[in-house]
Amino acid sequence: MTRLAVNIGGIKMANPVTTASGTFGFGPEYAPFIDLRRLGAIVVKGTTLEPRLGNPPPRIVETPAGILNSVGLQNPGVDAFIAQSLPYLRGIGVPVIVNIAGNTVEDYVEVARRLDRAEGVAGLEVNISCPNVKMGGLAFGTDPKMAAEVIGGVRAATRLPIIAKLSPNVTDIVKIARAVADAGADALSLINTLLGMAIDIRRRKPILANVMGGLSGPAIRPVAVRMVWQVAQAVPLPIIGMGGIMNAADALEFILAGASAVAVGTGNFVNPRATMDVIAGIEAYCQEFGVEDINDLVGAAWKK
Ligand SMILES: Cc1cc2nc3c(=O)[nH]c(=O)nc-3n(C[C@H](O)[C@H](O)[C@H](O)COP(=O)(O)O)c2cc1C
Repeated sequence: MTRLAVNIGGIKMANPVTTASGTFGFGPEYAPFIDLRRLGAIVVKGTTLEPRLGNPPPRIVETPAGILNSVGLQNPGVDAFIAQSLPYLRGIGVPVIVNIAGNTVEDYVEVARRLDRAEGVAGLEVNISCPNVKMGGLAFGTDPKMAAEVIGGVRAATRLPIIAKLSPNVTDIVKIARAVADAGADALSLINTLLGMAIDIRRRKPILANVMGGLSGPAIRPVAVRMVWQVAQAVPLPIIGMGGIMNAADALEFILAGASAVAVGTGNFVNPRATMDVIAGIEAYCQEFGVEDINDLVGAAWKK
């Protein structure tokens, strides 16, 4: 039997497979399809200080190898999450990682403070690829100084493990990864969606009401694998790799590139059992190749 347990910055997962934020709701949505207790962890939808309705429709466009979404941060707000969703999630018995977002550093800090006091949160995944309203629409995650400011603020507000979720919409992802590591992140998630758009040629207008959206799915996998490869070699923090993972072979690419865990996102929409298939496929691969501990595979494509 292969040892599948991994440790992501202090979060102990029984296996390396989790869910990508925003594609798995708050948990119960997938209970009819899979045994939630078999997941290594559950990462829930982005949570903000105040409830949000998200962006106006249309918010999803299908593309040849993935989707473009501009759902926005639709969520009931952190207090409603703690009151209504957390008790159910806690009952599942796997680590619950809460993805948090905000318009300002203060927003992030306050959400982190409230979750720090809540029972049953294993860690915070800090989404630093949202527009910063105070700074006139810049993204936190594309500027190393601002990324560090958010992570540093959250660090001071919580004892929970902090996973910084990085944006791929940058020239040098290693720079951002170093900045958040120095600011106190315990782990990294990469990648978030790539900025894209689609145009309706008959209406001669962008399809998404928000004009631009985030591209996810198999189309972005080579970019994501490359970024995991670069960051894993430069920054000594565990990585949750994601971007177009549809099956175990895809997940193994990320692990070999240097990810200690993986998240399935868009793959859940195509196959609601994708997470279970990925776990079973990783187990089968380890048996076939005599891998005793999954951690031995992390970064094996570049480690001597
Ligand atoms: C519909 C949708 C909603 C998402 N919402 C969030 C979110 O709230 N917070 C976040 O950090 N990432 C969010 N993401 C990004 C995913 O968590 C993931 O990083 C990205 O989709 C790449 O993985 P994938 O190709 O497996 O989907 C969302 C993605 C999709 C498709």
